[in-house]
Amino acid sequence: MVAECQLQIVSRCLPRGVSPMQEPVHPSALASVWSRLNNTPIVRGEGSYLFDEQGNRYLDFTCGIGVTSTGHCHPKVVSAVQEQASELLFGQMNCVLPKITQHYADMLQAHTPATIETFFFANSGAEAVEGAIKLAKVATGRTNVISFDGGFHGRTSMTMALTASKSIYRSGFQPLPSGVFVAPFPNAFRYGWETERAVKFCLKELARLLKTQTTPGETAAMIVEPVLGEGGFVPAPDAFLVGLRRICDETGILLILDEIQSGFGRTGRMWAHQRSGIVPDIMTMAKGIASGLPMSAFGASQALMSKFPPGSHGGTYGGGSAVAMAAALATLEVIEEENLVQNAARMGEHLLQGLQLRMSGYPHTVDIRHAGLMIGMEFDRDGQPDSETTRQVQAECLSRGLMLLVCGTGGNVIRWNPPLNVSFEELDDALQIFGRAIETVSGAG
Ligand SMILES: Cc1ncc(COP(=O)(O)O)c(C=O)c1O
Repeated sequence: MVAECQLQIVSRCLPRGVSPMQEPVHPSALASVWSRLNNTPIVRGEGSYLFDEQGNRYLDFTCGIGVTSTGHCHPKVVSAVQEQASELLFGQMNCVLPKITQHYADMLQAHTPATIETFFFANSGAEAVEGAIKLAKVATGRTNVISFDGGFHGRTSMTMALTASKSIYRSGFQPLPSGVFVAPFPNAFRYGWETERAVKFCLKELARLLKTQTTPGETAAMIVEPVLGEGGFVPAPDAFLVGLRRICDETGILLILDEIQSGFGRTGRMWAHQRSGIVPDIMTMAKGIASGLPMSAFGASQALMSKFPPGSHGGTYGGGSAVAMAAALATLEVIEEENLVQNAARMGEHLLQGLQLRMSGYPHTVDIRHAGLMIGMEFDRDGQPDSETTRQVQAECLSRGLMLLVCGTGGNVIRWNPPLNVSFEELDDALQIFGRAIETVSGAG
């Protein structure tokens, strides 16, 4: 159990109704563009918890936006990093071949779908997406790309153009690179339709887009998240992914699956798309890859990857950080040794059931969506996104020591993203806090 005293410490620090989120703290040496859930300086992390200077403990179910999937400072990852740091910090990939990078690539290959054989390593998710798009263009000789409504792919120029989850990621920065076309995504709850109808509609609209705006002969790739992350934690229906694969096979368009947030066991499968039985042509990975060290990758078949003329893609740091590689290698070992993929599936079910129970008497609409330990709760009221309630629930949880993020176009989705090795006890503590938060916000507490 989260000791009540720990929770009381948190609430003692904060006057009732005031969360750290509301304090106007912007240390002047840090850019104010970083909005932040919790402004309390954090000094330590262990497992599912973060600790501030006063020793207050927070149950971190943000996982740093899905990064610390093995929990904070997993001992195996920490000791791999420490050991590697004393051997080799960096070996630039155009200059030398760090042995650990080769080793990790082989390990990763053993865990990716058969079509994903060879990898380019980079530092951030957006950088991996940029590389994947470049590969698709150079391999097909085609110029255009299709992305999907609600998708998030990053904040560099190209990835902003692909992103359609919220206008904040584009406004003020347009015009963005051309040749990007956004197709509808089957978000059944948003349409108010059955999933089947939403899938049929979206595949039909996609076929139409290929007739009206970008022909297959001009279209290098489609990029899609198997579970929308920033766009509201919405799993892509299997039939939709199967439909995309079919259209790509018929047209020679490459299918890029963006598994940056949904990969490495997060959804109770190693890769979220595996539940649909399809395979990608190119796959992007990051976040849970290295338990917190900056690292990302995109992978493809050897035949496809070899279409990059040598030197046409690269970067100073990608693949060269031996320490990040050591962290990634240890992360993969922890995922295997501790059965974290299976644990994510099991714990996801437990969390889902607990949330459904706690929301059963709630008088307004809540859609709870679930893929392993990637659970979204969308709050609506009178047919409109209820961002106010969502924000209040988030703040009430934080004031009781539970950190949760919000996502979705309307800012009305609570995003459950606990570490993959979370325990039943920790989930039950979180559910208890969440239950109290809901009672308070809905006036019953
Ligand atoms: C699915 C997906 N793709 C790409 C990105 C961009 O990653 P980064 O923020 O590391 O550039 C993110 C980040 O949230 C993401 O969730």
